[in-house]
Amino acid sequence: MSNMDIEKLIEQLTIEEKIQLLAGNDWWHTFPVPRLNIPSIRMSDGPNGLRGSRFFQSTPSTCFPCGTALAATWNKDLLYKGGNLMAEEAYIKGVNVILGPTCNIIRSPLGGRSFETYSEDPVLSGAIASSLISGIQDKDIIACIKHFVCNDQEEDRLGVNAIVTERALREIYLKPFEMAIRQSRSPPKAVMTAYNKVNGVHASQSEELLTNILRKEWGYEGLTMSDWYGCYSAEKSIQAGLDLEMPGKARFRTVDYLKFVLRVNEFKIETIDRSVRNVLNLVKEASKAGIAEDSPENESTRNPKTSKTLQEIGQESIVLLKNDSKILPLTKDKIKGKKIAIIGPNAKVAQYSGGGSANLNASYSVTPYEAISSKLKKDYPDVQLEYAEGCQIDKYLPNIFKYTTGDIIGKFYLDPPGSKRSGPFDVLHLDSSEILILDYLHEKLVTNIFYATFENDFVADESGTYEFGLTVFGTAQLFIDDKLFIDNKEEQKIADKFFFGVTTDEKKNEIYLEKGTKLQIRVEFGAPGTSAVFKDPTQKGALFYGARMKTDPQVDIDNAVKLAEESDYVILCIGSTRWWESEGYDRTTLDLPLESNKLIESILKVKQDTIVINQSGSPVTMPWVDSANTLVHAWYGGNECGNTIANVIFGDHNPSGKLSVTFPKLLSDNPSYLNFGSFNGEVLYGEDVFVGYRYYEKLSREVLFPFGYGLSYTTFKFKDLEIKTDEDNLNLTLLVENTGDYDGQEVVQVYIEQSNPNIIRPVKELRDFQKVEVKAGAAKKVEISISIIEATRYWDNSKRKWISEKDEYKVKLGNSSDNILAEGSFKTEKTKWDL
Ligand code: BGC
Repeated sequence: MSNMDIEKLIEQLTIEEKIQLLAGNDWWHTFPVPRLNIPSIRMSDGPNGLRGSRFFQSTPSTCFPCGTALAATWNKDLLYKGGNLMAEEAYIKGVNVILGPTCNIIRSPLGGRSFETYSEDPVLSGAIASSLISGIQDKDIIACIKHFVCNDQEEDRLGVNAIVTERALREIYLKPFEMAIRQSRSPPKAVMTAYNKVNGVHASQSEELLTNILRKEWGYEGLTMSDWYGCYSAEKSIQAGLDLEMPGKARFRTVDYLKFVLRVNEFKIETIDRSVRNVLNLVKEASKAGIAEDSPENESTRNPKTSKTLQEIGQESIVLLKNDSKILPLTKDKIKGKKIAIIGPNAKVAQYSGGGSANLNASYSVTPYEAISSKLKKDYPDVQLEYAEGCQIDKYLPNIFKYTTGDIIGKFYLDPPGSKRSGPFDVLHLDSSEILILDYLHEKLVTNIFYATFENDFVADESGTYEFGLTVFGTAQLFIDDKLFIDNKEEQKIADKFFFGVTTDEKKNEIYLEKGTKLQIRVEFGAPGTSAVFKDPTQKGALFYGARMKTDPQVDIDNAVKLAEESDYVILCIGSTRWWESEGYDRTTLDLPLESNKLIESILKVKQDTIVINQSGSPVTMPWVDSANTLVHAWYGGNECGNTIANVIFGDHNPSGKLSVTFPKLLSDNPSYLNFGSFNGEVLYGEDVFVGYRYYEKLSREVLFPFGYGLSYTTFKFKDLEIKTDEDNLNLTLLVENTGDYDGQEVVQVYIEQSNPNIIRPVKELRDFQKVEVKAGAAKKVEISISIIEATRYWDNSKRKWISEKDEYKVKLGNSSDNILAEGSFKTEKTKWDL
């Protein structure tokens, strides 16, 4: 197919076929035209691993650290390698187009998808995205950068109108996309539009964004596709420049409707051809990978090469925030013969990803407890290890699967329970009670009206009161030993929660059970079209049911404190989960969930030297920070999350991660605080270009941990800065000296500050960066070249043009935005416009 003659195909295609090509064939595939040998190509989420083409019963996949973690490596070469690995995963899953990277901006750390995207800074975002895209596309897999543009919150995400000045749009929100398209070695071959409106027009039908800026200004030649169900019209979207409606079958671009549009001369066939050409080009580009149509989706396996790359990325993303008493690394001499306590709700859970479409069924995962205990067993056999959970942080009662002795059996029917129905048309064995049926396909399912029964046994592993919970997109009732126990069918209340923000509240009930009691659980499910509140016949729905034995939170904390007191060292694993940070809804607070802060404070009171390890995809508040001597931030770390944490705390890896987003002291300190959410369908980007550190610095507002911050087990000096300019570029050379005892890596962060701008500009802005590895006692030369225009320009709203003013510009090189280690300046001789 790589010799496809696209113009000839356009001549040969019928009008019906052309229209069909402009929408997906199903959830994950493009439309095929077998008579002309045009295959269907497969797409898959996404930004931190390839799920394959199924949410429901998805094949086990390799999971990378989350987006903010990838950015926290500040390592372009490593992420190129990461992109290569993502492409290799695509081959395993028979996927041609990866739906990522996600390049939206962390305006507010509350954004549900903050973990999935990279940063509050557009240059860091654009550079990370470009490395990943190059790594992916150099192996002939296509990257689809998303969501173009201003999809920076989840509330009202389909309809909210982002009101943003052109300057902020250009300098902050469009910038990562522009960098990936204009400056990267390999521009992405697909772009996914955002759900929301930008200045009054939905991104998926904005001619300004899709044609004027993307294609005419930036010279983009690839395909544009809608987000899933994010195409809201037929002719408007096509005219604006949106090539593909996803998923299929078409909701708007139906053959009958578009033929009518053509017949009444709303637009001409050439307008359709323009998008058909882009779809065919995508298919042609995809064919270079040689992936056969409808290839099988294979499981990603745990193999040493993949694990090694995941560990490299994961450990480089980990940020050492405090090491005041130099407890870390935990070397042999410190812990020989000692007792270590691992405490915390995230110790025995692998927090490998945030929630929503970026989440996947991880092929394996290593918890911090597993990694630390196996390391101790191997290298420090005389160390005694003990564990206490300390508190629970589940947002929903957790997956019931751990209490079953067999599988969960799902039986699918066309008729409701209680009716005279013939046997199930499908029977499936499931290993989770988190059941996302949304992309389930079966030949018997001609409409989306269907029913299912899920059955499993339940064995109480201790005596106590057990809570059961049930939430659903559709209807559901949970029966215990045939008696209705939880009803989520009648009197349903829609909540903005689980499953992309569309489910009912979790309904709960509890029961006392003696250890070993065995129950039969049955859940009767009806698709959303059968629900009086959802009434959505286009969707297949989802459900989640869970259970847990109730405990007394104070007793849990007391037990943990007692263990801490009795131990020489305490490793406290706290943080968030994918249920708190997810696509579909924003967080409502930056605080750690439930009893976390109380647990941390109580432990720190008896052990100030506790090693606190936080795992969250975006900033959290830390009211106890002053009493913690040792603090590590470890994000959501992919399959290898436990091992990467262990490698850092035992010193097998010297930490070099730098925060990709500022941790504010309080939520109300954040620049978007007064303007986050949807107010009558609008969100005002009132902070303008002063996003993240651009705001905190301008207002001299103290933060918890600044952008770009991160410690090492060694120390570095920057020396001998030389600044030279030529016609186009600012050329910097610098020596980075490792002045400590450990080999390590440091990030040279280049910030530029204009001395006398004619408008208010941020104090300084990141323009480029480079990570270097330097042996203890050695020095390494770093060379960085930046386009002068890129380093100096800003967007002039009144003239609607870029401008670079004649002025003096300070060059500030730091290893954090708040720690500048070398400084100089350069001058520009002329003011330039239209750049
Ligand atoms: C998300 C996209 C994703 C798509 C397909 C949407 O809900 O916004 O990022 O690629 O679903 O899963």
